[in-house]
Amino acid sequence: MCGIVGYIGNKNCVPILINGLKRLEYRGYDSAGIGILTDDNAIIVKQKGKVSLLEEKIEELNLYSNIGIGHTRWATHGIPNEMNAHPHSNNDGTLFLIHNGIIENFHVLKKGLLKLGYQFKSETDSEVIVHLIDSFLKKGFDLTKSVQLALNEVEGTYGLAIVYSKEPDKIVVARKGSPLVVGIGDGENFVASDVSAILAYTKQVIYLEDGEVAILKKDSFSAKTIYDKEIEKEVHEITMSLDEIDRGGYAHFMLKEIMEQPETVRNSIRGRIIDEDGTSILGGLSDVVNELTDSKRILITACGTSWHAGLVGEYMFEQFCRIPTEVEYASEFRYRNPIIEKNDAIFFISQSGETADTLAAMREAKMKGALVLGICNVVGSSIARETNAGVYTHAGPEIGVASTKAFTSQLTVLALITLLIARRKNLSRVDGKTIADELKLIPEKIEKILKLNNEIEKIAEEFKDATNFLYLGRGYNFPVALEGALKMKEISYIHAEGYPAAEMKHGPIALIDENMPVVFIAPKDSTYEKIISNIQEVKARGGRIIAIANEDDNEIDKLVDYTIKVPQTIRMLMPILTVIPLQLLAYHIAVKKGLNVDQPRNLAKSVTVE
Ligand code: AGP
Ligand code: GLU
Repeated sequence: MCGIVGYIGNKNCVPILINGLKRLEYRGYDSAGIGILTDDNAIIVKQKGKVSLLEEKIEELNLYSNIGIGHTRWATHGIPNEMNAHPHSNNDGTLFLIHNGIIENFHVLKKGLLKLGYQFKSETDSEVIVHLIDSFLKKGFDLTKSVQLALNEVEGTYGLAIVYSKEPDKIVVARKGSPLVVGIGDGENFVASDVSAILAYTKQVIYLEDGEVAILKKDSFSAKTIYDKEIEKEVHEITMSLDEIDRGGYAHFMLKEIMEQPETVRNSIRGRIIDEDGTSILGGLSDVVNELTDSKRILITACGTSWHAGLVGEYMFEQFCRIPTEVEYASEFRYRNPIIEKNDAIFFISQSGETADTLAAMREAKMKGALVLGICNVVGSSIARETNAGVYTHAGPEIGVASTKAFTSQLTVLALITLLIARRKNLSRVDGKTIADELKLIPEKIEKILKLNNEIEKIAEEFKDATNFLYLGRGYNFPVALEGALKMKEISYIHAEGYPAAEMKHGPIALIDENMPVVFIAPKDSTYEKIISNIQEVKARGGRIIAIANEDDNEIDKLVDYTIKVPQTIRMLMPILTVIPLQLLAYHIAVKKGLNVDQPRNLAKSVTVE
């Protein structure tokens, strides 16, 4: 999820590492560190906070080395602090590594390593890798073989760079699910999580693929699979500008983050489903799961997009957990002296974990004795730290001010929480497995929808001059109507409203004419026929209609002006799919209007003021 840079050659690696980490800062991170070899001794310097603080710390040490690795961390396991920052080293300090990704089975691996007498210094999942490699080195294997053997036991995702003081002529790197690129220089070689960190030094790069291990020496490069099969790698010439590279080749961070959603939903699910029991496992709730399951009422408070996620959560909790659930704007909750009973469980949903209104609402609820639970994306954020327990969404850094991947990750986590509670109440194992199986299929269904990007751009062209939009949905898709409207408002500055579709006849239908585009979220569920009636009411008044419908729906095309087809899934998960076209519609209209998509006017990524 975050930043890796490494160097081996004839120059001093320290400035190269620091400059590389600075190039990776845009990705969002919470701590940084470097590890180098001097006279075959490992020196590791780590720092919570910004790379500039790490740089100040390093300047005092006057370091010089021809081999080193550097890391910016986006915490997933263990709060952001110096101890949890990377690199992590083995117990005798001869081996150190940096890691991007999530090790799914780190609990199991850690238990085994503790039994072997290994001491752990950090709370991270990453540290298990360095001790696992060490365990093979102790059996007499060389570094490359030890890395291969260790990675055969690891489940999850990794981008790794590893240095061993007893083999000081190489950096071993490995990739599975977290990108790694090798830079080929003249008498020097580089490794990075993305080319922006090394483009200043070379344009000749080799992209590693999942399951590959590479050995970098200052004047050679070789690659193998983790099963020791030699592989030939092709050298590519970089032609993209640095600016383009920062956004992964996309025009904007928002588009990059929309396109990342198959992977970020996978990360939200990773290691959290127990297939045989048709339930979920959420470590962050393990201490409170009984209290949560027995709660008499669930409250959900949040702001903005996170509040919309809460509304979807309300449908999930009430349908499957049969626990009365209410959703409140955090700003309203905190100021109205809410009635909080001791059996209440209250979720605080916040991507940043720092939103002032949500944080204040949480503190108010905590003071009144409620069980307060966080659903956050930023590990170690205030809401995450101050709640009794919670679940991280693992969407990775979200740079675009308009929230996209964080929203679908919030819905994914709410579905996992629903499964956890419902299977401890009335949900059968078979029904639990249905939900779990459908959830695992969501990433590939998102991939299918993202292939409609060009089609959606064409629809955006037809509506870029609209001055209003109406979004209508029913049931689980009513919050999606609200979210679609918010996306349109905040990045295209076009006024847009979301309503329950049935509510249209109680007023909004007066707005309908040929100048009022209407977006219907109309999957084939129990309210489909009612939505069709609403569509006909709008059509009869000259409204222009965009429908988000299911792939197998061939009727709706005859009734509306534009359809965007999404795959079918179970009702509770449909919002994760139906929101994707609305994100892209808003994105393309804003781009066509020449607006600043990533930093819309008047908005902040985290509203830490009231
Ligand atoms: C969403 O696109 C907006 N940026 C905004 O509504 C946001 O969801 C809201 O400020 C809440 O932020 P949080 O999730 O970080 O608490
Ligand atoms: N999961 C690791 C940690 O929490 C790596 C996070 C990252 O990719 O930066 O330290």
